Order: sequence, then C-alpha cells, then structure tokens
Amino acid sequence: MRIIVTDQNGVVHELEALEGWRVMEVIRDWGLNIRAECGGSCACATCHIFVDAEWQDRLNPPTDEEEDMLDTLPDVETNSRLSCQILMSEDLDGLKLTLAESARQEEAA
Ligand code: FES
Repeated sequence: MRIIVTDQNGVVHELEALEGWRVMEVIRDWGLNIRAECGGSCACATCHIFVDAEWQDRLNPPTDEEEDMLDTLPDVETNSRLSCQILMSEDLDGLKLTLAESARQEEAA
C-alpha cells in the first residue's frame, strides 16, 4: 500500500507504507521533512499534516489529546491531524496528505 505526500515545497511523493505503521513513521523513514520530536507519543505536534478532503471522514476521529495538541499550532486547519496518531491499514491505501510548515525541521546551522 502507499500514501501520497505533498511536502512543504509542493513536491508530491508516493511512499510505500506498511500495515500497522504510523503515517508519521512512513514519512520520516522515507526521509521527508518532518520533525516528529516526541517520536509518536502525541506530545509535540511537530508531525502536523493536512489530510486531503476526500480522506478526512475515512480516518478515525482525533482523540481529545490529539485535538489539544493541534490547538497549540499556529497553522491549524479543519483538516489538520497529527500523523503519528494515524495507523496504516488497507483502508488507507492511497491516503493523500500535505506536510504542514510547522512540521518542518529546523535548517542545520
Ligand atoms: S510525533 Fe510528536 S505528536 Fe506526533
């Protein structure tokens, strides 16, 4: 299965994904620009993505913890999610999303 990710520069990537992996891990392991500071424990919000409209209702709704973290972001939108809180499954084959500016890694000094 795969996911389709638009990065912060507007470049589209098709990434091979494995069942049970967090979407954040797929993005990170393919080397795209995602900070994911807390490593997936819903504690940093630096794995922020925007989910394509057609996919929004097909994901499990965010937990209160995820909502609270999203509310701390400057660029939150109605289709914002934390990618570490979305687990890959067959149902999500073809998931389309865009990496948020707030997930970008700091440039190396
Ligand atoms: S990686 Fe920290 S909240 Fe997702």
